[in-house]
Amino acid sequence: MQKKDMLYEGKAKKLYTTEDKQKMIMEFKDDATAFDGEKKASLQKKGKLNTEISMIFFELLEAENISTHYLEKLSDNEMLVEKMDIFPLEVVVRNIVAGSLAERTGLAEGTELEEEVIEFFYKSDELGDPLLNSEHIKLLELADKEELAEIRSKAREINNVLQQFLAEAGIDLVDFKLEFGRTDQEEIKLADEITPDTCRLWDVSTGKKLDKDRFRQEMGGVMAGYEEILKRIKKEK
Ligand code: C5P
Repeated sequence: MQKKDMLYEGKAKKLYTTEDKQKMIMEFKDDATAFDGEKKASLQKKGKLNTEISMIFFELLEAENISTHYLEKLSDNEMLVEKMDIFPLEVVVRNIVAGSLAERTGLAEGTELEEEVIEFFYKSDELGDPLLNSEHIKLLELADKEELAEIRSKAREINNVLQQFLAEAGIDLVDFKLEFGRTDQEEIKLADEITPDTCRLWDVSTGKKLDKDRFRQEMGGVMAGYEEILKRIKKEK
């Protein structure tokens, strides 16, 4: 499958059309940004590591009958995905307090949540991706009531599968961000990526951060963290 036009270039990915209108090519870049693009770097091999890690997670979810946009891996840093209409929502699932939840609530980082917390953020650069509740989502007509219920339930299912799988690899799934889309047949499927760029992943026994927080917090060893994740999940596969 050949790339045609570039539809979109984001901070860490590019999206291309193909000769098949229903399929697109997602390319993972080596670039990393944080704090709304204020901090930038190119991290050698990130694209390749994220492609492989995302592929393993998507295949795991498909095997558990959770539909995703993933079709096949095309190269070291490209995958073929199904074209969908993406909901302009970032769906964050949290199992342990960290990041903006700690800032917003004053709860200490590392506090385990009895039940997962699901949050929605509006994908709007102009507004700075604000947190939305379900009434705001209805008000802005970003998803209807049934769609939102389905997104919530799929996010929970995905959390259950990933949390269990990662626990076996000695990794705590602290939190992660998902995006969902709607196919031409009105089916809601998981889109985007699942990588250490979009998840917080801590070593179970030491609490060591293995994800993009190493970049955000200038801890060094960013790619070593990603490589460690890939090594462990490959073993569990
Ligand atoms: O910053 P915050 O604590 O809200 O992030 C929650 C989770 O969502 C983290 O795993 C983070 O990596 C992910 N996230 C993301 N893309 C964003 C915002 C958050 O992948 N734009």
